[in-house]
Amino acid sequence: MDNWRTRITNHDDDSIWYCGHDVAGLMRTETFAGTTFLLHHGRLPSDGERRLFEAILVGIADHGPGSPSAMSARTVATGNRVAPEAAVAAGILAIGDAHGGAGWACQRLLSQAIDRVTREGVSDDMAADDIVRAEIAAGRRLPGFGHRTHSQDPRTAVLLSLAGELGVAGAGVRMVLAFERAVARQVKPLPINVDAAMAAILCDMGFPPIVAKLMFIVGRAAGLSAEVFEEYTRERPMRVKVPVVYDGPPARRT
Ligand SMILES: CC(C)(COP(=O)(O)OP(=O)(O)OC[C@H]1O[C@@H](n2cnc3c(N)ncnc32)[C@H](O)[C@@H]1OP(=O)(O)O)[C@@H](O)C(=O)NCCC(=O)NCCS
Repeated sequence: MDNWRTRITNHDDDSIWYCGHDVAGLMRTETFAGTTFLLHHGRLPSDGERRLFEAILVGIADHGPGSPSAMSARTVATGNRVAPEAAVAAGILAIGDAHGGAGWACQRLLSQAIDRVTREGVSDDMAADDIVRAEIAAGRRLPGFGHRTHSQDPRTAVLLSLAGELGVAGAGVRMVLAFERAVARQVKPLPINVDAAMAAILCDMGFPPIVAKLMFIVGRAAGLSAEVFEEYTRERPMRVKVPVVYDGPPARRT
């Protein structure tokens, strides 16, 4: 069998290294956010990137038991009281294009628009308008825009302003704001949600689009763990009683 290869982690009898950095040293000086950045990027973050990455992970850690991932985790936990790993995994499986995973598609669109601005010299607004028009014409919703419970996503303003203050904001942040204007013109005013804010910032940090979804998974795992823990410690087994309306064929007599 061929050797498996990796650039991430290596070890010998005495030490472990993440991308060449001794774990013993990282444990003394680095944050979890900075280490997560290192593992995915291959380099340590700047001070500004570290602070912003930390803010992303804090902001997405949880959104209450009503979100699809937490509800899935709790539903499994209420029926299976001895497998927290299954309950947390069920929550992660509920992360997708409409919940927590929109950053992946959003960052792809942002990158397409930025490439066009670079190649053709069109304005941010023109590039954003054309992409929004094409997405709407194809019957798709703009990933990263709109929110079920917030008219303005409270995490977005923090992330975008921190990105400016910390000198991380670049073409990604400019383009997500251009998309917001294009969506308002062509659909209706919709907030930039945390998925799109993350996508813009991760784009400016040099991450490829899939990392927007992966970072949501990393951050939300903390909240899902807490949701499962609470379900096990505060709630009775099998507490799920969903009101169901049956509208199928009537019961047959014979
Ligand atoms: C998050 C989301 C599911 C909320 O949906 P919702 O509660 O139905 O949203 P609203 O009630 O504010 O708006 C519904 C209307 O606005 C439109 N709309 C909402 N978000 C839209 C978007 N991102 N792009 C285009 N149109 C959108 C819908 O088409 C809908 O119109 P319709 O009734 O004619 O179908 C939705 O905004 C969405 O699909 N966003 C894209 C996916 C995403 O970013 N998910 C991460 C959420 S944190």
